[in-house]
Parts: sequence; structure tokens; C-alpha cells
Amino acid sequence: MHKCRVCSNNIEKFMSFGKMPIANAFLKKEEFKDEYFFELAPSFCNKCFTFQIIDQPDPNKMFHENYTFFTRSSKFMVKHFNLFANDIYDRFLKNLNQPMVIEIGSNDGAYLEFFSKKNISHLGIEPSANVAKVAKSYGVNSLVSFMNLETSKKILNKYRKADAITAANVICHIPNINEFAESISNILDDNGVFVFEEPYLGSMIEKNSYDQIYDEHVYIFSALSIQSIFSNFGMELFDLQHQSTHGGSMRYFLCKKGKKIINKSVDNILLKEKEQNLNKDDVFLKFKQNIEKSKIDLKNLLNQIKKNNKLVAGYAATSKSTTILNYCDIDEDLMPCIFDTTPTKINKYSPGKHIPIKDHKYFQEAKLDYAFLFAWNHYEEIKKKEQKFISKNGKWITHVPEIKVY
Ligand code: TMP
Ligand code: ZN
Repeated sequence: MHKCRVCSNNIEKFMSFGKMPIANAFLKKEEFKDEYFFELAPSFCNKCFTFQIIDQPDPNKMFHENYTFFTRSSKFMVKHFNLFANDIYDRFLKNLNQPMVIEIGSNDGAYLEFFSKKNISHLGIEPSANVAKVAKSYGVNSLVSFMNLETSKKILNKYRKADAITAANVICHIPNINEFAESISNILDDNGVFVFEEPYLGSMIEKNSYDQIYDEHVYIFSALSIQSIFSNFGMELFDLQHQSTHGGSMRYFLCKKGKKIINKSVDNILLKEKEQNLNKDDVFLKFKQNIEKSKIDLKNLLNQIKKNNKLVAGYAATSKSTTILNYCDIDEDLMPCIFDTTPTKINKYSPGKHIPIKDHKYFQEAKLDYAFLFAWNHYEEIKKKEQKFISKNGKWITHVPEIKVY
């Protein structure tokens, strides 16, 4: 029996992915012997409707001075964040005198650069020093820290309350979500907005994209869960927007209670979530069955490819790939390598299964029959980039919403 991180209700795991390494801990051979593992087990609280993992490694093991994720590595994401910044500016800031913007998890500054270029007061809160250093080179100010009550006091000592606080793909990383919500409420101006987007529970269930579940994602949120978490700290949802990023995300708009007109999207999406049973345990039992089937189908397919002496490799060593490879027990024998563009991953090995990561520049000459698309959420971008692979009869394999070759 465990306690829900949000409401302390008793919760149980509904399945286990088994022994799992840190999703982004790509490693060298000499580091294999000290590799860290934990049990990855998801759970759903039927009182506050929050989907969460039971055990989580120490955050310092994940977000440190050598964090390997750089937002700017995807052109698509850079464009997405520029549009996001534009929307926030147009809708909430452009008529204000000297607005103040804060971003939680500002990474390499791909979002805040928009405000820096406009000479708007801004601050990024970012625990990983290496990515914050890159942000600085784009004129983006960061405070290297986790966002918590202590950080909120530091911010208020130096800056005024924020008119807009934003975040993308970061709130779901924060285990102590109650302290986080209180910190946000402290640094948000009474008329300010808190807008963030995260992988969406409704999409994960619909697409069976269980690879969204890994150490960094302590939570996969829904509007129902966000409403119950933030209402305890005097905040409410006033708008919701579906996003296509990360294979289906939701953008949540929150304000201090009673300060904004509530858009009808809020009622509409809450109703849809209830229709999808995102407030009931049963839906997660079905989810578990779908995941188990996906594992069997994938193993069968890879075994068949091997038997036919065909060549397969992974495409993009995503964080999500760590869950698939370890849960499905896929090693170098079934997948000889993964091609990736990130310099800090190339020539290292995948966490847990130790599949070699090769430079993407060798992808074409590898003469693959199949590429397993771990970055399935970037399919449109990749399809354009890899027309040569297709024209030479290369085939993609995906696992969402089910194992498919195309
Ligand atoms: P993420 O899903 O954990 O953000 O990881 C994305 C990884 O995918 C990152 O290592 C870069 C890699 N990648 C490629 O190698 N090629 C691509 O076309 C894309 C979109 C990503
Ligand atoms: Zn709960």
C-alpha cells in the first residue's frame, strides 16, 4: 500500500514494468557495473484522479549538470515554443506595462528567447546547469534551481510577482506537486496566469503510448487531476487546449479563483474525460492488457525479422525508448543499434539494455530493412527528412496505437 502524492489516499500499482534504469542515463561501457535501477510501477488515485508512478529515483540523478535533453535539438519544438510564446504575449501580456514572465524548466531558453529579444523581464528556473548555460548564450536569464517554496522566496526577494508563468513538459517531473502548486500561487500576481502543457493522459490511454511512463514523468495529467491539485491552492482552470506535441499533450490555463472568465473548453473537456472514464480504475486495467499485448506483438515481430535475416535498428534514442526496451526485454541481439542525432548520446549505450547508440549520419548507409520509430511523436518531421530510407524500401515500425509496419 502506498500514499497518493497529491491527496494521501491509499493507492496500489496496477502493473509493473519491472526493473528500470533512468530513461536518459545513456552510459559508457565502464559505467555498466554501477548502473542504477528502480521499479517502474504506475498507479491511479481514484480520489483525486492523478495518474502517478509509485517509486521515483532521486531527482538529482535525473536533472543534473549533464542533462542530455536540449529543446533546440528539434526544429519542430523550437517552432512550437515560439508560437507558444507569441500566444502568451498576445493574449495576456502585450497591453501590460513592463510585464514579468517566468518559465519553469527553461532548458536551453528556446521559449524565453522570444521575451529576451523583446527586452521583457523574464526568468527561467532550471535545475540543470549545462542547459541553463546554453540559454545564457541566447540572452536568457536563468536561476539554476528546482522550483519549490525556498526558490519562490528567492524569486520574490529579487523580482516582482509574475504576470505569466509558463512551463512545458516539466510539471509532471515534480514529485512534491503540492509544494510546487503553493510556490506557483506565491509568485503569481493576483491577475496573472499560469499556463503549462504536458503529455496528456487521455492521449496516452487512447494511443496505448505507455512509453510516456518513465522516471521523469512522475505524473501523466488530465484536466480532472490538475483541477483537484491546484484548487487546494486557490487556483482554477479557465481554459484548456489540446496540443499535438509529445504524441498528444494538453495545455492547461490556470488563474487565481474568480479572476478570469471560464472558457467553455473547461466543461467540455472535463465531460469528455468522464466519458473516457479517466476518473475510474477500470480504464487502467484495460490499459494494462493493451500494454501486455503490445509487448508480445513487438517481441514476435523482432524475432521474425531476425529469423528472416533482415536488418532492423532503432530510430532516435528517446527517453521513451528506455521503457519499451527494458519492459519488452529487447537487447543488442534483437536490435543491433539505435541511430540518434544528440552528441551526448552518440557512441554511448542505451540505459539498461546497453544497445549501442550510433551517429544518425550513418543511418542511410546502414542499409536497414526496418527502423523502429522511437520518436513516433515526430513522425511528420522524420518522414520528410528520411525520404531516401523509404525510397530504398526501408520500412518503419511503430507501436502506437498498436504494433504496425508501414
Ligand atoms: P526525447 O523524446 O526524449 O525528447 O528524445 C528525442 C531524441 O530523439 C533525441 O535524442 C534526438 C532524437 N531524434 C533524432 O535522432 N532524430 C530525429 O529526427 C528526432 C526528431 C529526434
Ligand atoms: Zn490522490
